[in-house]
Amino acid sequence: MSPTPLLLGIDLGTSACKVALIDTTGATVAETEAAYPSSSPQPLWSEQNPRDWWLAAARSIRGALARVGLNAQRIAGVGLTGQMHGLVVLDADGDVLRPAILWNDQRTQPQCAQITRLVGAERLLELTGNIVLPGFTLPKLLWVRDHEPSIYASIAHVLLPKDFIRYCLTGRFATDVSDASGTAMFDVARRRWSDEMLRVCGAERARLPEALESTALSGTITPRSAAETGLSSGTPVFAGAGDQAAAAVGAGVVNDGDTCVTLGTSGVVFTAMRAHRVAPGGVLHAFCHAVPETWHMMGVMLSAGGSLRWWRDVLRGGTAMCGDAVPSVDGDAPYAAMIHAAAGVTPGCEGLLFLPYLTGERTPHADPLARGAFVGLTARHATAHMTRAVLEGVAFGLCDSLELIRKTGTRPRSVRLSGGGARSAVWRQIMADIFGVDVIVAHGAQGGAFGAALLAGVGAGCFANVAEACAAACKTGETTSPGPNREAYRDAYERFRMLYPTLAPTFRSSAADA
Ligand code: XUL
Repeated sequence: MSPTPLLLGIDLGTSACKVALIDTTGATVAETEAAYPSSSPQPLWSEQNPRDWWLAAARSIRGALARVGLNAQRIAGVGLTGQMHGLVVLDADGDVLRPAILWNDQRTQPQCAQITRLVGAERLLELTGNIVLPGFTLPKLLWVRDHEPSIYASIAHVLLPKDFIRYCLTGRFATDVSDASGTAMFDVARRRWSDEMLRVCGAERARLPEALESTALSGTITPRSAAETGLSSGTPVFAGAGDQAAAAVGAGVVNDGDTCVTLGTSGVVFTAMRAHRVAPGGVLHAFCHAVPETWHMMGVMLSAGGSLRWWRDVLRGGTAMCGDAVPSVDGDAPYAAMIHAAAGVTPGCEGLLFLPYLTGERTPHADPLARGAFVGLTARHATAHMTRAVLEGVAFGLCDSLELIRKTGTRPRSVRLSGGGARSAVWRQIMADIFGVDVIVAHGAQGGAFGAALLAGVGAGCFANVAEACAAACKTGETTSPGPNREAYRDAYERFRMLYPTLAPTFRSSAADA
């Protein structure tokens, strides 16, 4: 009997490249990761060297193969995912022209304003389904044009981060429709580059990669990349997806209305949709899903687990928030002790609220100047109340995205939860009570790499389609249902919703003074 095929997912994250080798039941055969540094040469800038990505990707692939002493010919397909929105620019020889500008870089506010003025706010929503944010790719390209004209003139290829790894593996320039959706150059409704956006903004179509459906073949492993990674030359590489769409596939979120929440440093609320829809004012991201002919809506909270980490650091006497992935919550002693104490506090924290906008906010306020706050402190409040207020404030902020999704007419029946925050039973109960739906732990959702491997499995013919792949491979854990505290949170949520509009003028003047 020939051995069962294996699938390799590569996730080019913000701090490390993670690789997952799985079989077609979803069982993990090997997982490895290799980190790379970021740099911030100027305030608001966030950059990485694409060559570091490739070295880390090659090292983690070699590591995964070595760990199981595997014959690489058993790998039926490779799928790619990774950090979205970044800008990688190559010259005509395929050489990297400058460091990649990442999704969390904030330098392009003037270019965003220029694009919105040139295209018109309404037309922008019609053409791309989204407002343009500083993290997106097009404003970065225009920033290079405005500030580094000689580099701009040499650009032959514009790529998203994971697609640079594809280029190294296969020599092909391609992306997928979910990742292309976050560039501000993509016609999300029609799943193709927007000629009008490109024309009005003066960007050239010839520099952009081909945009493929996530399960489509994008190329094969070249002899050169085979030598560097240990993969077999000729192994098919499939298009894959942006990190959120791939993570959603990994959590089994593929059918209309299926919803997941990823609680890492940031918090993402993601709902799969059969039809393309745009939220009023573009307040939610409206992107293509990794499942052909489907879309998704997504709200992104910038400091979710990041807020809890900040609070842990404050309690320990530290201050700065670092960019690492949020560690496991109950598995990590300081978090476990903090959360245990918070569990004894009455829901609603005796009137104390926490606003989790420590690094500005994307959804629902799209305001880089939004700030965090504890509001309603009295002499009765102790650190345990403040910890619980952080847990509740993050859940309220995520609920804002869920409510916006509900307003588009989709009513999620439950939420699949993944990321470090999913390990806390206390936080899961708070979320179930505040969201008003069951919260189900998504297992087998080892970030995007697992979902990317499943997409490769569909492309390689191991599964008939993405839904079948998820049914075969995605596992769920414990379900937490809304409990009696749901009522106690209703008033607190209403007060939470008043905080941002009330405090926004103060945030603006504090930012001016900072
Ligand atoms: C999605 C987003 C993040 C980045 C980094 O819109 O900004 O998921 O892709 O993870």
